[in-house]
Amino acid sequence: MKTTSLPPVLAAVLACLLSTAQAAELPRLVSQDGRHALLVDGKPFLILGAQAHNSSNYPGALKPVWDAANDLKANTVLMPVAWEQVEPVEGKFDFSFVDTLVKQARQQKKRLVILWFATWKNTSAQYAPEWVKLNPERFPAMKDQDGKPSYCLSPFGSETLKADKKAFVALMGHLKQIDSTDRTVLMVQVENEVGTYGLVRDFAPAAQTAFEQPVPAAVLAHKKPVAAATGNWREVYGPYADEYFHAWAIARYIGEIAKAGRAVYDLPMYVNNALRNPLDQPPKPWNKDFASGGPTWDVIDIYKAAAPAIDIASPDIYTPDSEQVNANLRLFGRRDNPLWIPEIGTKPAYGRFLYAMLGRGAIGVSPFGIDYFNYTNHPLGTTATDKTLVEPFEPVYRMFAPIQRQWAQWAFDGKTQGIGEADDRKPQQLDFPGWTAKLTYRLGRFGEAAWGGEFAKPTPGTENPNGGVAMAQIAPDEFLLVGQRVRVRMEAAEGTKGMMLRAEQGRFDAQGRWVMERVWNGDQVDYGLNLPAEPVMLKVKMGRPR
Ligand code: DGJ
Repeated sequence: MKTTSLPPVLAAVLACLLSTAQAAELPRLVSQDGRHALLVDGKPFLILGAQAHNSSNYPGALKPVWDAANDLKANTVLMPVAWEQVEPVEGKFDFSFVDTLVKQARQQKKRLVILWFATWKNTSAQYAPEWVKLNPERFPAMKDQDGKPSYCLSPFGSETLKADKKAFVALMGHLKQIDSTDRTVLMVQVENEVGTYGLVRDFAPAAQTAFEQPVPAAVLAHKKPVAAATGNWREVYGPYADEYFHAWAIARYIGEIAKAGRAVYDLPMYVNNALRNPLDQPPKPWNKDFASGGPTWDVIDIYKAAAPAIDIASPDIYTPDSEQVNANLRLFGRRDNPLWIPEIGTKPAYGRFLYAMLGRGAIGVSPFGIDYFNYTNHPLGTTATDKTLVEPFEPVYRMFAPIQRQWAQWAFDGKTQGIGEADDRKPQQLDFPGWTAKLTYRLGRFGEAAWGGEFAKPTPGTENPNGGVAMAQIAPDEFLLVGQRVRVRMEAAEGTKGMMLRAEQGRFDAQGRWVMERVWNGDQVDYGLNLPAEPVMLKVKMGRPR
């Protein structure tokens, strides 16, 4: 039989065309009406994340990470890649860990977010290579007012910036090479919890000279002046000048790294933040109470001005105080800043806030330390290192995992809301067009507290706040509810009449079809919709009598 083969040039062109056709779209962030979505393979994607411990970025350490992420039902793992490991010798790159990570993530059917630990990790240089750490002449530290070096590398170290940028660009180039078809890696965090503890800014000569220059126009356009409309940093921002200047210096440094990386491989990029008190309103000038210069909520505008290649300033939430959590979600979820929570503590108290985060349209969330490595960051997180670690979050992820794409779309369309039980245990409400969901906590599933006696006693298991609900208004009179330990009563908007017509408990199957398991009626609806300790999903149809 006669066979024909293509000339080599044509075959190469064809192979190239085919591989381009197969390559998935680059992950990217999109916004509409002040809301945001992370598009993965062209459609909104909700990151149900699991962040590994700090020292799990080695091939031999990965198994306990996949095990924990699988138990959690996470769809994405957040994993550090350290400068010290990819460039142990200057100019000699080793991306073997990245290769193993990406390969195993695909086998585990997980996506990845890469955390670039380089010039700054929790403000220090501990993840920089030895050749950086041991050469302060070339890679200078910040200096205090007396010229004494700080522990923190200076954002004015031009050689440090050049070297970090070079390594980051090499990493992004490598990711492009290995991941342009699959797009396993969704986003990149540039540095980790930057800023400086104990020193408000760099006072070394180069920094001091910059501090005395006029505030750049881009900063003035984003961040409202405090004292004078123009002038140097002190003149414009008065007592806030030092912190704002340091934020600008660090943001500019990170922005340059991110920009260079994106020029090679254009993934969404973000920074994370060790928070300042969100209830400090209006914010007081820095007083050694947080890492100066980090992307705290009061300087997000400065990051937007100085680092346009960074899409998101995100909060790392390690205080389960409900007022603070809600304030942080409000302060970081902005028209110009998608809500994304790359770290929350693993204590059970944090579980209920997933409903608030996902209901508010976060592009994703990730508990920190989801990894059966024999280590715990207690008291920030739980003491557990076994499967109990994932227990506060798995039941919620289990609900959202099959509908993550649909939920992300609803959130992008502005149809979702959610809330976690407040520390004061008081009633709350969620307002939707035409309907209000009235929420109460600690009640049993039968009867009214007003009846007294046992009916008025808090239900066992509600000693600590752990209720919450996320809702999507999927049609004008129809809602999807996911929640736990809350009584939900739907009420028609003021001045209108309404009634509940049908409440179905069910789930979505792998094809995204609703599977009804039972209709709640009688006892199950007489006292509101009483969601149990284990989360459930309800589809609720409301009606309006004529
Ligand atoms: C926040 C940091 O971003 C993490 O890398 C980790 O150090 C936690 N704090 C504490 O476990």
